[in-house]
Amino acid sequence: MRTEICKRLDIEFPIFAFSHCRDVVAAVSNSGGFGVLGAVGFSAEQLRVELDWLDEHVSGGYGVDIVIPGKYVGMGEMDVEKLQAMLAAQIPAEHRSFAKQLLSEHGVPELPGEEKPRELLGWTEATAGLQVEVALEHPKVRAFANALGTPPAEVIAEIQATGRLVGALCGSVKQALSHKTAGIDFIIAQGTEGGGHTGEIGSIVLWPEVIEAVSPVPVLAAGGIGSGKQMAAAMALGAQGVWTGSIWLTVSEADTPPAQKESYLKASSRDTVRSRSWTGKPCRMLRNDWTDAWEKPENPKPLGMPLQFMVTAEAVSRGHHYADKAQAVGFNPVGQIVGRMNEIRSARRVIEDMVRDYIDATDRLQALMPDA
Ligand SMILES: Cc1cc2nc3c(=O)[nH]c(=O)nc-3n(C[C@H](O)[C@H](O)[C@H](O)COP(=O)(O)O)c2cc1C
Repeated sequence: MRTEICKRLDIEFPIFAFSHCRDVVAAVSNSGGFGVLGAVGFSAEQLRVELDWLDEHVSGGYGVDIVIPGKYVGMGEMDVEKLQAMLAAQIPAEHRSFAKQLLSEHGVPELPGEEKPRELLGWTEATAGLQVEVALEHPKVRAFANALGTPPAEVIAEIQATGRLVGALCGSVKQALSHKTAGIDFIIAQGTEGGGHTGEIGSIVLWPEVIEAVSPVPVLAAGGIGSGKQMAAAMALGAQGVWTGSIWLTVSEADTPPAQKESYLKASSRDTVRSRSWTGKPCRMLRNDWTDAWEKPENPKPLGMPLQFMVTAEAVSRGHHYADKAQAVGFNPVGQIVGRMNEIRSARRVIEDMVRDYIDATDRLQALMPDA
């Protein structure tokens, strides 16, 4: 299991865990895997607090995930305030009132007091660039990953100049080749079954296509992995490791609100949908009244990224605050592996189970060899 990327990152198992929750990231890194903190929802100042904490609580290293999309509305504007004002002016009032109406129809209360959600997240070059600066000040950050596109050349160069690795997610061979040409250190190939933003090609088809196309660049397999058996399949196809997201949403350390955890624990693999209704780009999540409403022809169509989230940011905050009342119209990003997420385990236990299950799977294959 100790592949080249394990040596480069000095980790025991090539199990990468994406999470927005620092406790999960620390628990995975301290159990022999590699935790990666999703930065997109944090301002640069908030990210500094999270990474200061991680530097104190992680014994080895960890990663930071940023989102600089290859295409988004307002691309090229690097002044955050100007960008925000320019984007806000493009949002039709109809979209804002439709989002509010969905929440009030479902009895989700308004946010208490003065609380105001941040509408423009880290998913522009202007906002993610600030996050990279903060992350580079943290010595235990050993790798970065970028979602939704090839990171700009100057970002790649800046990270690599410090001796850290930079990777990028992809959902097709075309995107993977663009990453390779840009000189990325590793590629994460995510099949459509994965949680969050995801493409259309299934993991079992995508992984070997990407691995062969970008060789010798190391590839991590993502999308639908929740067990060591699935990890063994990915490694048999030539992956150097696995990149997981959904399974960490229901571990005991995760800060997922209890009602949302319950929705994930109860859901089956048929209960997800790829929807543009929260972020503007196709994202896999639990299907509910909210995702259905944005599909109806008589209702407003989702805007592009980052405009749609500026419309839905308030709904995300209200859903988080009142998770017990908001599940029918809440944002529950997760992949199809949700059907196997049926009990709460600690992050360490998930890693141990994966490793044991991987060994069983490889033993099973070994026993099929004629001279075994
Ligand atoms: C709740 C959630 C949020 C996610 N947000 C991001 C993100 O901000 N950046 C990113 O690179 N990937 C994000 N992803 C995708 C994960 O990094 C990972 O590729 C994916 O979860 C793998 O598929 P799996 O969910 O089947 O394990 C997210 C996934 C989930 C479940």
